Amino acid sequence: GGDIPTTVGGFNFNPVAKSLADAITLPEGYSAEVIYAVGDPLKAGLGAYRNDGSDVDFDWRAGDHHDGMEYFGLKADGSGRDDAGAERGLLAMNHENVTATFLHPEGPTLTGGRRPQQEADREIAAHGVSIVEVRKVNGRFKVNAASRYNRRITPQTPVEIHGPVRGSLLVRTRHSTNATKARGTLNNCAVGRTPWGTFLTCEENWAFYFARAKDDDSKRTPKEQHSLRRYGLMAGADGMSGWASVGEGDFYRRWDMSRNGKSADGSDDYRNEANTFGYVLELDPYQPDSVPRKRTALGRLAHECAVCPAPVAGRPVVFYMGDDTKNEYIYKFVSKALWDPADANGGVVAGDKYLDYGTLYVARFNADGSGDWLPLTMDNSRLTGYTPHPFVDLADIMVNTRVAADAAGGTRMDRPEWCAVNPRNNEVYFTLTNNSNRVLAGANHPKLLPDAANPRAYEDVYGDGSRRNKGNVNGHIIRTRDNGDDPAAVSFRWDIYVFGAEAGAPSSVNLSGLTEVNDMSSPDGITFTRNGLLWIQTDDGAYTDVSNCMMLAALPGRVGDGAAAIVENQQGSDRLEVTTFKGKNPTPDTLRRFMVGPRGCELTGITETPDGRALFVNIQHPGEETPASVLADPAKWHSHWPHGGNSRPRSATIVITKDDGGTIGI
Ligand code: FEO
Ligand code: CA
Ligand code: CA
Ligand code: CA
Repeated sequence: GGDIPTTVGGFNFNPVAKSLADAITLPEGYSAEVIYAVGDPLKAGLGAYRNDGSDVDFDWRAGDHHDGMEYFGLKADGSGRDDAGAERGLLAMNHENVTATFLHPEGPTLTGGRRPQQEADREIAAHGVSIVEVRKVNGRFKVNAASRYNRRITPQTPVEIHGPVRGSLLVRTRHSTNATKARGTLNNCAVGRTPWGTFLTCEENWAFYFARAKDDDSKRTPKEQHSLRRYGLMAGADGMSGWASVGEGDFYRRWDMSRNGKSADGSDDYRNEANTFGYVLELDPYQPDSVPRKRTALGRLAHECAVCPAPVAGRPVVFYMGDDTKNEYIYKFVSKALWDPADANGGVVAGDKYLDYGTLYVARFNADGSGDWLPLTMDNSRLTGYTPHPFVDLADIMVNTRVAADAAGGTRMDRPEWCAVNPRNNEVYFTLTNNSNRVLAGANHPKLLPDAANPRAYEDVYGDGSRRNKGNVNGHIIRTRDNGDDPAAVSFRWDIYVFGAEAGAPSSVNLSGLTEVNDMSSPDGITFTRNGLLWIQTDDGAYTDVSNCMMLAALPGRVGDGAAAIVENQQGSDRLEVTTFKGKNPTPDTLRRFMVGPRGCELTGITETPDGRALFVNIQHPGEETPASVLADPAKWHSHWPHGGNSRPRSATIVITKDDGGTIGI
């Protein structure tokens, strides 16, 4: 089919100004309500969250750091799935991390080099996923705390390993000596949903939770050492949260991946524990008792979204994904099974059919605006011939996906965050949020020179002429169109849709000509609504002196409106700078700011009801940078959102509605 026109009429709101207020700023005629904050109860009879650091029962409370989420419609009587259900539904939601300062009575503590068990338990349980029912009561969405669907999945919840890695020695652990099971999910960031009604949650910065002894490298093969380095699992790391330091007990020891007591039965062997994280986990929000499944055919990364165009009967099902680390890659997965609409209600059993067998590809962006999807398979001689560590089987490729992508020759990108599929034409948008390791000169691993798809890098030049690399500070959004408009195609066209920048920056920085109504930095969360509006959320440390993080609405046109950036050699062979960008710039009619969040938050997570009249957004870690040293003095905290006064700030879900009951945005 040809293109449906992508301009669908104008926005129905006036742009809001940038803001540093500790509040939600929305256009006139719009309202927001907090419906689900960290600690809110998920079962009847559990008391309200005290929010003073004393709450302990996070297995039945909302986790912290609300992140990506999806709305799954319910029938009016709550008896099951209804994709059109706009009055009652389930929010499946990631809880990426915790703000330990406000989670404990006096912030995180360490006694004799050990984290107290109660603090570790609380932090572990406040990570993961929640499923929570929301429904309209007198026209306003509320959480149904007594819903039979409510559920928490934490880093300790039993899960199944599915796909090529199932049964591999690479994931044999104390917990599962036949390598079919694992425990939990961790640092869940962006999300996806499947055509068969399930939720996909993506494990992002799991690597930083693991401790690894200084001498552990000496106990690993050269191939293992290479992979550990590629995943940031550094020898000598204590683990970001210090959970392993709690001491004895399987639930704590497992966070030290160098532990190996060499007992005959493997009962003290945690060396493969980190190989059980880094996947896309599928779970069925409608089946509270179903066991979540790690879909290892989609590779092991710092996974961001897994986003799927509407499937076509008789064609493969396709998921696009990014790996959010500096200089990592963009991927897609193409199922082996061809879509059968009879599977639309299949739950995780349909997931077994479409997500356990298929081909994973890494993207190569060529300078002429073309691109190739390079297969990560045992049929690719660049993998089987990779020196000095050739791949031996598909499980090897799926556990060591980054190394396989190196071998295949993918293009290293400026931190691929979320992706989104335009429902009008199946073009895919990827946010490249920023990259301090993209440098102009003297590049060597792990730093890279700019290229056509990642063309920006800046330096500060000091009075004495010395230079300091700043990299791609403000990020950009790239988009792809698979050839023949076939998501299973192995080649594509691409362009850059927009570069982030301050409105007042020189035109050599503000390449997209952004103005006061739409300037932004470090695009992160993106989602298309059903009618083709693109929401863009920001997560930016470089711009928070000017404005808190924000959300913009876009009508972004199509591939070809933008341009492959021109990268020119400025001062000799090792100096490259982008000097011109020939794309069609956004205007206030095609890109404008819709919302600004409270202080210190990241705006993340966007999902709407099927009627487009309620938009759910997550306010993640308001006041996060507050040091624990000022906990005794609330006047010094960076945020008190949402409850104000001297209250501790809380990550929370808000629901946005238009006061006249209309659709949100357009
Ligand atoms: Fe959790 Fe890459 O954002
Ligand atoms: Ca993010
Ligand atoms: Ca981010
Ligand atoms: Ca964050």
